Amino acid sequence: MDKTTIQIGFLGMGNMAQAIATGLIEKAGIRGPQLKAYAPHQDKLRDNAAKIGFIPCSSVRDAVSGSDFVIIACKPHQIEGLLDELGDALNGKAVLSIALGWNLERYRSVLEDRARIQFVMPNTPAQVGEGVFLFEAESTFRDEEKALWKQLFATMGVVEELPARLMGVGGALTGCGPAFVDLMIEAYADAAVSYGIPRDKAYQLTSQMILGSAKLQLVSKKTPGELKDAVCSPGGSTIRGVMALEKNGYRAACISAIVAAVDGDKKPESKK
Ligand SMILES: NC(=O)c1ccc[n+]([C@@H]2O[C@H](COP(=O)([O-])OP(=O)(O)OC[C@H]3O[C@@H](n4cnc5c(N)ncnc54)[C@H](OP(=O)(O)O)[C@@H]3O)[C@@H](O)[C@H]2O)c1
Repeated sequence: MDKTTIQIGFLGMGNMAQAIATGLIEKAGIRGPQLKAYAPHQDKLRDNAAKIGFIPCSSVRDAVSGSDFVIIACKPHQIEGLLDELGDALNGKAVLSIALGWNLERYRSVLEDRARIQFVMPNTPAQVGEGVFLFEAESTFRDEEKALWKQLFATMGVVEELPARLMGVGGALTGCGPAFVDLMIEAYADAAVSYGIPRDKAYQLTSQMILGSAKLQLVSKKTPGELKDAVCSPGGSTIRGVMALEKNGYRAACISAIVAAVDGDKKPESKK
């Protein structure tokens, strides 16, 4: 497939779709006129179109018509109504969906085999080329369609594939995880501010520390335990900090955040 000629229609142009559209244009070599998008708030859509470069559409059918790929990027609870509204407009289309919980099986229960489906869980760090794109292994995309999207998303981050049964937890980890890390950045920075470090400097130092720690783990391939042990000298300040975190349920809190996000995924009416 030739990426320079494909047409892509977005249904929904919120935070995640904007990150993907921007990445497609700035990193993946897709031109603005290859992208169309529909969202109900037309003023906001036109503002984003002017900023990002896609073509705004006034109806879902407009966004789908002539598109080789349709990206469903609205909230999960909006999809059923959207599919109703689309009727047979998706027949024969390749539909890439990024909505948590809307996997191949769920689309098939509504659309049967009228459209080819690929479920992908992206995340917002894609905006800076450090995203994670989880592809559901089970898919009705043609091999060349799947290969094309893996190639496009690889320009914005890491691409991995998971079986359907693990997409919920994978999506909770990588899709919801950035918000959990944001809380962590804010909390460490608050502590630094309380000792007098200016707030912007506190954010910069905290984020760089987290970025560096993550990169060290990825590059060294050492376990987090090994890396933690290496900086905890006996009787030192780091081990005292580790003990304070354990006393306050740090790891249990992180684990329960993922469990809460995954359990939410099981509820069909879930909004995230
Ligand atoms: N944000 C993330 O980090 C992330 C990560 C992974 C997956 N996702 C998935 O991405 C999807 C979008 O999330 P988001 O954070 O980007 O949400 P968002 O910012 O709230 O965007 C939702 C978009 O859907 C549009 N919309 C609402 N009703 C619609 C309809 N009937 N037809 C077409 N579009 C409609 C909204 O338009 P208006 O603004 O005009 O109302 C908006 O553009 C969700 O399904 C989520 O599970 C998000």
